[in-house]
Amino acid sequence: MPMNIGKVSLANPFILAPLAGYTDLPFRLLCREYGAALCYSEMISCHGLVYRQQNTIDMLRTVDEERPINIQLFGSEPAAMGEAAAILSDYPIDMIDINIGCPVKKVIKKGAGAAMMKEPQLAEKVIRQVLSNTDLPVTVKIRSGWSHDRITAPDFAKMAEETGASAVAVHGRTWTDGFGGKVDRKVIKAVNEAVSIPVIGNGDILSYNDGLAMMAETGCDAVMIGRGALGNPFVFRPEGRPTNIAGIIPALRRHLELIEEYYPPERVLARTKNQAGRYFKGLPGSSKIRQLIYSAKSFPELKDLLNSCL
Ligand SMILES: Cc1cc2nc3c(=O)[nH]c(=O)nc-3n(C[C@H](O)[C@H](O)[C@H](O)COP(=O)(O)O)c2cc1C
Repeated sequence: MPMNIGKVSLANPFILAPLAGYTDLPFRLLCREYGAALCYSEMISCHGLVYRQQNTIDMLRTVDEERPINIQLFGSEPAAMGEAAAILSDYPIDMIDINIGCPVKKVIKKGAGAAMMKEPQLAEKVIRQVLSNTDLPVTVKIRSGWSHDRITAPDFAKMAEETGASAVAVHGRTWTDGFGGKVDRKVIKAVNEAVSIPVIGNGDILSYNDGLAMMAETGCDAVMIGRGALGNPFVFRPEGRPTNIAGIIPALRRHLELIEEYYPPERVLARTKNQAGRYFKGLPGSSKIRQLIYSAKSFPELKDLLNSCL
């Protein structure tokens, strides 16, 4: 089921969600290898980019093998977002996404992320500025609304489409929901009925079949998977996650290999351990393996540990 976002064609409708602290280059490449048609980067501060902060620039690292890639920006000042989009456009990337869903206090306080669900006029200015500074397709990622008495996603998506966005991803929760409760698929359906650009449904998808079910139920064109992909790139394959450790270890090995290729591994040891532990979730003996992973003091020790699991 190929699809298009602007001028970019995707081989299938399964997309990796942006996850701050996780969707870095190695993990995105892994998910592409396991079948994701498109990956979103972690959210990138427009100000960090405008001030050319080194840690922000480091987050823009990409390679041809992972393309198409969607780099996500966050910020609420139209001029800074426009300037950041212009800077991004010189990188070998395929789309720019605007974060209008992040619920984190630090982001909301500055009027960015999900706070923009309350300020559609400001959001429109931001989208316009980004669009006028790039030739790349621009997408937006929204929530269903700010609160349950303000379910604005359908109108918001219409505004984004009329302003020129090429696709809209909808996490079917409000800001007040945070990550609690169940995703409201009816809102995703309503957004799909409101616009003709591609709609990407998001929230709580834990398997490939779950993704197909969301598309069938809501009519959305694609689905975006976040937490369900952590320690589980198999989510992008119809056959799903192997039920034994021997089936899972090759994915983790490949993940570690990619980390080693793109980072000084010791620098990201803590982050790696957090990800590695997730591969074993729910399997017999997993808590013991996780304990061992967390006590590893170096990357070689972590790799030896995996060999001993087989
Ligand atoms: C650890 C974590 C980090 C996240 N970082 C981002 C982010 O950088 N940008 C964004 O738009 N959403 C972010 N999200 C939200 C996810 O992209 C997604 O919308 C949400 O988790 C629901 O999808 P899921 O149930 O498939 O995880 C984050 C969520 C989590 C749990």
